[in-house]
Amino acid sequence: MAQVKSHIYTDRQWIAAGEYDREKHQLTMQIREIYVGQSFVLLTDEFIRSLQRLCGAFASIVELGAGIGWLGHWLSKYGLRLQASIDNKSWSDFPPERYLDLVQNMDAVAYLHLHPEVELFILSWPQEDDLAARIWQGLRPGQHLLYIGEERGGCTANSDFFDLIHGHEVENNASKEMRQSFLSFDDFHDQPHLYQK
Ligand SMILES: C[S@@+](CC[C@H](N)C(=O)[O-])C[C@H]1O[C@@H](n2cnc3c(N)ncnc32)[C@H](O)[C@@H]1O
Repeated sequence: MAQVKSHIYTDRQWIAAGEYDREKHQLTMQIREIYVGQSFVLLTDEFIRSLQRLCGAFASIVELGAGIGWLGHWLSKYGLRLQASIDNKSWSDFPPERYLDLVQNMDAVAYLHLHPEVELFILSWPQEDDLAARIWQGLRPGQHLLYIGEERGGCTANSDFFDLIHGHEVENNASKEMRQSFLSFDDFHDQPHLYQK
């Protein structure tokens, strides 16, 4: 991870200094493409530690649209066990054999409706369809959603979702620290945001 980070920083410095090097930048792109075949979120030590602190406030946490399941895997390595990691395995770029055993094959909204006890749902890089909006609509008042994705008009969620979450962001020390610790690949504009319904 330190190596990946160093490539990201180096690229940013090149670009900032106007010294864009096509060959070296290509290498970063290759790393990014290999990485996103496993996880769209850059799972750095700093980010997972910030999640450890933020998630400590919640008794039950579930990841929806979990993909391969690496976020849940790393959180458990850091001592934080998710109640479930849910994915319907519909993303064609993730071959079925790549999913970690912890990922349960189920529709995210169906799970949400069956589990009112969950205090925090995590949703990263939902596609630009209506899933993120339907998840928000399915939440009960008081439940939280940690959304990791791009802003309105970006590559994740649809505009209904951004209308729905408007005014629901939770600002506290833990969410601030989480945002500060977060890194993205170049050309990715994802950010973590904590919302409460
Ligand atoms: C772009 S991928 C992101 C995966 C992962 N969260 C990440 O950040 O790497 C979107 C994921 O949502 C899953 N997905 C799409 N529709 C779903 C649904 N209705 N229920 C559960 N998972 C779904 C796909 O199978 C895919 O793994």
